[in-house]
Amino acid sequence: MIPRYFAVAEAEHELQNPTSEEKLVLLGERLGLGPVSRVLDIASGRGGPAVLLAQQFGCTVHGVEIAPEFRAAAVERAANAGVADRVAFELGDAANTTFETESYDAALCLGASFVFGGLADTVDALTPAVRSGGYVAVGEPFWRRLPLPDEYEDRRDPWTTLEGTVVVFETSALPVVSVIASSEDDWDRYETLHWSAVEQWLTANEGDPDAAEIKARHERWKRTYLRYGRELVGWAIFVGWKRP
Ligand SMILES: C[S@@+](CC[C@H](N)C(=O)[O-])C[C@H]1O[C@@H](n2cnc3c(N)ncnc32)[C@H](O)[C@@H]1O
Repeated sequence: MIPRYFAVAEAEHELQNPTSEEKLVLLGERLGLGPVSRVLDIASGRGGPAVLLAQQFGCTVHGVEIAPEFRAAAVERAANAGVADRVAFELGDAANTTFETESYDAALCLGASFVFGGLADTVDALTPAVRSGGYVAVGEPFWRRLPLPDEYEDRRDPWTTLEGTVVVFETSALPVVSVIASSEDDWDRYETLHWSAVEQWLTANEGDPDAAEIKARHERWKRTYLRYGRELVGWAIFVGWKRP
């Protein structure tokens, strides 16, 4: 189960990360995707990246997603986009899912390395599923600079610098061969879509028992983003190559 806040705040997101369609197309190019490619998409969310890659490159995508409402939105999106024959979304906890070994050209985990306990464990978990010569791509936050200000509330996040993130990724013996980083525009689009979705939901659901908690979380994260996050938190898709 994911906290209800996310189902409310991400009800309008096509991409549930600070990135863009252009950057995901670039990712597909860097992964060398084509009509015969098979992609594993861990924590596939509302299906935005999977559907886009299937449309652009003709590849097949196997998504795994734990939230039933996100998985349902993904299935609908794939049908509307005419790629339902190439994109399948499994409902389940990716941490407890067994993947066929050496059977994907690329394995993605965009914004959900917590599922496996962190970045290095995510790369370790996904590498066996990828064929020799394929890729593992993980979308991960990083600190733009350190040290963090003492008054920053969310200092406990387990991230490191951009350079440190590549070092951690490469402890799994896959060299990082691409970094596709988010811009300020990507961040603003992603963050402010939360704000508008939550404001609309609160207006329509005043008496909901979760309304106070969702409002409090919304206000805290909005403040943190404006005060620190926009300046201090980066996000990028790191692509590692499984050398033949
Ligand atoms: C930040 S969103 C990213 C969604 C998608 N990858 C994208 O880029 O649009 C993280 C996703 O991880 C899913 N998730 C969380 N825990 C999970 C788990 N144990 N197994 C599968 N999915 C999980 C959430 O429900 C959510 O859809």
